[in-house]
Amino acid sequence: MKILGIETSCDETAAAVAEIRNTKFEILNNVIASQEKIHAKFGGIVPEVAARKHIEMMLLVLEKATVGLNLKKDIDAIAVTAGPGLVTSLTVGVETAKTLAIALNKPLVAVNHIEAHALAGLITTPIPNFKFQISNQCQSSKSKALFPAVCLVVSGGHTQIILVEKIGKYKVVGETLDDAAGEAFDKAAKIMGLGYPGGPAIAARATQFPISNFQFPIMVKFPRPMMNSGDFNFSFAGLKTAILYKWKELSKDKKGKELDALKIMFAKEFQDAVVDVMVGKTIAAAEKFHAKTVMLGGGVAANKALRETLANNVEKYFGGKVGFIVPDLKYCTDNAAMVAFAGYFKFLAGKFVDPFKLRADPNLEL
Ligand code: KG4
Ligand code: ZN
Repeated sequence: MKILGIETSCDETAAAVAEIRNTKFEILNNVIASQEKIHAKFGGIVPEVAARKHIEMMLLVLEKATVGLNLKKDIDAIAVTAGPGLVTSLTVGVETAKTLAIALNKPLVAVNHIEAHALAGLITTPIPNFKFQISNQCQSSKSKALFPAVCLVVSGGHTQIILVEKIGKYKVVGETLDDAAGEAFDKAAKIMGLGYPGGPAIAARATQFPISNFQFPIMVKFPRPMMNSGDFNFSFAGLKTAILYKWKELSKDKKGKELDALKIMFAKEFQDAVVDVMVGKTIAAAEKFHAKTVMLGGGVAANKALRETLANNVEKYFGGKVGFIVPDLKYCTDNAAMVAFAGYFKFLAGKFVDPFKLRADPNLEL
């Protein structure tokens, strides 16, 4: 069978087609039209602009994702992100999916965006005891069982630690009390004039540290917020304030090479602070809930330092007894392949929605 996934929760218009054949789940087409450049001009996402662009791009993206396929004959089900996200953006994908489902008379499933991010690592991982096997790439666990798993979902809008008892059964055990991790990256980058989106910009600067033949007069040190709070919650707003004041203090009168060096040092220390907290809390949660696997997902999962540090710590603390699953880079930031994937499990469970009744829900909970 083939399932069409549609995703428009934020600033990416995305559609993907996945084919499930016997034991294999394969992504046939994964098309993403990013609005990054448009929003970069404003230093962040402008919801009104995002929605208009989604409307312009939706059919083009759909056409590309279904190239060579006959929608009526070849597509067996439609999955769409129904929330959480920007309501004006979500509505474009939801209304498109509803229209297709009605016109083509196909079953429709509504996908939670966080669930799609959480499961994205499994697209390329075999799932034991499941009806189908998924092409193997990044399974590192010596244990056969995947669940319970502890999944860190870190994106521009969300930061949650989720206990995955099995696919479809989730418990949020920790979350941010203010800014999301990606939002913190974006705000820190804005303070230093590194542009939008901030995550990749900060990560690129951080890798330039240390600078050969350059001596920093002082080293900045940022707090690791809530590191020892005893729970699995996060707070990044204070970190943003810390970076703002330190940046104002140290960057004044600096230009050229000196200013560049300062950006590199700030980026490295900021990234280390965020990664330390995220990794510390995820490992603690994995320990508490006796996780068999640690999973990572969301746009910030594209961060190399986070991927590597979490992988190393899972190995260090659990010595091969706990697996680590991280999505391919293309399935970290928003995409519709992960929506088709999460949607397929809803399809298997018979969790269909009435296309005449489905509404986008900006606050949809797991
Ligand atoms: O999952 P996503 O595409 O959208 C939301 O659901 O929010 O995540 C986007 C976020 C942005 O905040 C972006 O700065 C961050 O992911 N991001 C990164 C990296 N690549 C994207 N953050 C840190 N390091 C990266 N390499
Ligand atoms: Zn996302």
